[in-house]
Formats: sequence, structure tokens, C-alpha cells
Amino acid sequence: MMFRLAQVSDPHFQCFRLASLRQLLGKRAVGALNLLVRRRRKHRMELLQALLEDLPGRAFDHLALTGDLCNVALESEWSAALRWIEATGLPADRVTVIPGNHDAYVPEVVASGAFERMFAAYMTAELRAGEAAYPFVRLRGEVALVCVSTGVPTGDLGAWGRVGEAQLARLESLLVAPEVKARRRVLLIHHPPILNRHGEDCNLRDRAALQAVLARTGADLVLHGHDHRDFFKELPGPGGSRIPVVGAGSASYAGGPDTRSRYNIYEIDGAAITFVTYAHDAATGKFVEFRRKRVAG
Ligand SMILES: [Fe+2]
Ligand SMILES: [Fe+2]
Repeated sequence: MMFRLAQVSDPHFQCFRLASLRQLLGKRAVGALNLLVRRRRKHRMELLQALLEDLPGRAFDHLALTGDLCNVALESEWSAALRWIEATGLPADRVTVIPGNHDAYVPEVVASGAFERMFAAYMTAELRAGEAAYPFVRLRGEVALVCVSTGVPTGDLGAWGRVGEAQLARLESLLVAPEVKARRRVLLIHHPPILNRHGEDCNLRDRAALQAVLARTGADLVLHGHDHRDFFKELPGPGGSRIPVVGAGSASYAGGPDTRSRYNIYEIDGAAITFVTYAHDAATGKFVEFRRKRVAG
């Protein structure tokens, strides 16, 4: 049976009051305010509303949000994201959330586990490796969603990410667990596992180690966000196989047709995987099919 997975990435919900910003971020408030003002023009909340209204017209089984739900890790931003998720009307077991680098903007907030608490309903797992929060695995029909965190508190000092040695070891054990291996393995990760167009301060630091894990274990599909651009590449899997890697653009970006607010739906039908990108059309205000690509099978 075909499984349809929708991916919404990098919504960067913006919701703050100046007074609370100072109180919550202290001397980080100036950098945060700069970032918020710059982003206000680039990421438009009305595009997220338009996307929300488009979703019910599409057929999909599950919705994955691949990080950067906020800008500066404020609870008010995450609350806005939660309200949006709830407005989809989807039950929690049909929505999966992973963090991005912006969700790890403030070290104290990362240490407090606030993100994991707020989005707990969307991070329940059938499978984990021990007590660690990441990776977590959600089994849905013939699909296993293997969910990784690359969030490192970098603040204003970059947008890089890291899986980390310990999480990589857990990831390897989960990817070969019998319940996972018996299904189509979809890895959800915020940062691209391949060098993107920016420098090291925007990339996944230990991407080579992650690629080595995937080359040993294999996977059916790797989905990421972060770059705010459509992305497609392949990574080598075991025995000469290839693993499709697809990046979704930002759900709220107010750019031209190539980057404007968009989301993907992956049709996973046995070994055959096709994805469709739906992009916001500024002229009509509607989402239209922008690209359809078969990436496996
Ligand atoms: Fe982002
Ligand atoms: Fe990001």
C-alpha cells in the first residue's frame, strides 16, 4: 500500500514581544532582535496560513516537520508552531517533529529540554536506543521514520549542526533493528547530510561520519531542510545501492518561484519513491505542483 508522507520544513514561526525578548535572552537580545527584524520580511506568517489551508486538499498519511520551527528558541514562537500543527486537525500520531539549529538557539533552553517537552506528542516513539531522546523511531505502516537531532546551540555564531558520536552509534543500531529494517527507512534530519552551498558554519560538521553509517546500514530515503532550497542528491548505500537525499525549501520563505513557500509529498510505494513539491504561486495565492520526481524504484 502506498504511504504518503508530507514534509514541511523551516517555517520559522515568529512571535515575540520586545520586553519578553530582553528578559528571556539578556545580552543575546540585540542579536536576536536583528535576526528577527531581518527575517520578518523574508519569512511571512501569511504564507504558513496559506499552506495550512492547502493541506486538507492533499492526500497524505503523515506530516513531518523537519526543524527550524522558530527563530530564537522562544516559547512564544514554538507555541505559534503548536497552534499551526493543531490547526491541521491531524492527530498527534500522524505528525512528527524534529528540531533544527534555530530550535537550539539558546544553550540554556536546549539543556532544559523545552523543545522536547512542548512537542512531546509528536516525538513519541516505538523504538529508541536506551534513554536518549534522539534518535527516535516511529513505525507507521510499511514506513519507519528515523528521527535525528543535529541541533547544537550555536546562537549567532553560525548555523552548523552535529549528530555527535554517541547519537551516530545509536542511529546505526536503530537503522539495523529488525522492526526498522523490515520497513522503508526514512531518515529525518534538519541539516543536509551532504555539504550544501554555504561554508562550514552552515553545514553538518560530522556529515562524513553520518555518510559512513548510511553506507553500512543503508536507508530508503533521507529528508532534510535547513538550506531553504529544493535539494536532491544521492548517497552511496551498501552493495552499490544509492540512497536518495531530498531537501525541502522553507514553508514560509517569501522568495521567487524557486524558493517561495513550499512543501513536499513523498509517495512511497514499495521500492518506488516519487516526490512532489507544491509551491506557493504569488499571482493566485494558491499552491501549485512545482516539481514531480521519481527518486527510487
Ligand atoms: Fe531554517
Ligand atoms: Fe536551519
